[in-house]
Amino acid sequence: MKYNINITKTKESRLNEVDFENIPFGRVFSDHMFVADYEDGEWINPRIVPFEPFTIHPASMVLHYGQSIFEGMKASKNLDGQPMFFRPEMHAKRLNASASRMCMPDLPEELFLEGLHALVGLDQGWIPPQEGSALYIRPFMFATDEFIGVRPSSKYRFIIFTGPVGPYYSRPVRLVAEQTYVRAVAGGTGEAKTSGNYAASLLPAKIAQEKGYDQVMWMDSREFKYVQEVGTMNIFFVINGKVVTPATDGAILKGITRDTVLTLLKEKGFEVIEKPVHIDEILAAHDRGELEEIFGTGTAAVVSHVAELAYGDRVITLPPIEDRKVSPMIKDWIDGMRSGRVEDTHGWVQEVKSLELVD
Ligand code: COI
Repeated sequence: MKYNINITKTKESRLNEVDFENIPFGRVFSDHMFVADYEDGEWINPRIVPFEPFTIHPASMVLHYGQSIFEGMKASKNLDGQPMFFRPEMHAKRLNASASRMCMPDLPEELFLEGLHALVGLDQGWIPPQEGSALYIRPFMFATDEFIGVRPSSKYRFIIFTGPVGPYYSRPVRLVAEQTYVRAVAGGTGEAKTSGNYAASLLPAKIAQEKGYDQVMWMDSREFKYVQEVGTMNIFFVINGKVVTPATDGAILKGITRDTVLTLLKEKGFEVIEKPVHIDEILAAHDRGELEEIFGTGTAAVVSHVAELAYGDRVITLPPIEDRKVSPMIKDWIDGMRSGRVEDTHGWVQEVKSLELVD
């Protein structure tokens, strides 16, 4: 342990209020959170405290200029009941990539990982036992300098909190390709996991939902012809047995589940192609009867099937799940690795090492 994490335990756990059979996504929060502050060029006072609201100054720079980044990751229990993380270092690295783009300080990887292990070790009773559910982990960092003026903040807060979750999507999703609004442009912040990207997506997503769709499929900002990603996921197409996904180009989030899926599919012998994906190519494949699957990947969404895709007047319906070969297999593989049912040959699944905790 490099960092001395001060721990204040909650006086009364809320764990007995949780119905693990019916967990709504994102509404249940575990007992504790990890907090560290950045001041005078260093991270100070790493601590675990009861999960509860805190005060924030009205001039906090995050509220005005949006320096705010986050991660989404999961912990689950394997068949022996041991709590496990999935690729935690990748999340620490991506947080720092987002920090760099948003002009925020680097968070030492050891601080991220030590805070994570200590927190999830302490709250491991909150990890749902059943496969397909998990403890969702939300690390995030935001600007706390009290100042009105546009410049990078000199103070930040980093927090990790957690909460048990079930599946993000309860059924295959219906997507509409967006042709008015954009999520990200070349040279913009599309690759960073920053709050503003999600804020920009809310109006188009609301309009899409009013028309009966679940999510927007983002297109490039120049021609609205090249596919980028979906609101909460990266996107994959299976065309005549080959798996195609948009190449990351600076405007697309470098999904960790995306990377997992690409790696596993290549190992399984699939031809996997990362390239600019033109919408006409997808529609033509559908017309030839070769578009076998569309699916999304993300920490929250894991692997989510797409039922329907609309582009202008065209609406295409994808084959039923029972006829799909790639996405159910890859979803089962990832779920199985997490639960220990399937061998993890990559060292992606890592034991939560709880600290010796003292009151
Ligand atoms: C995730 O997949 O964990 C995300 O961060 C996407 C969404 C829930 C905001």
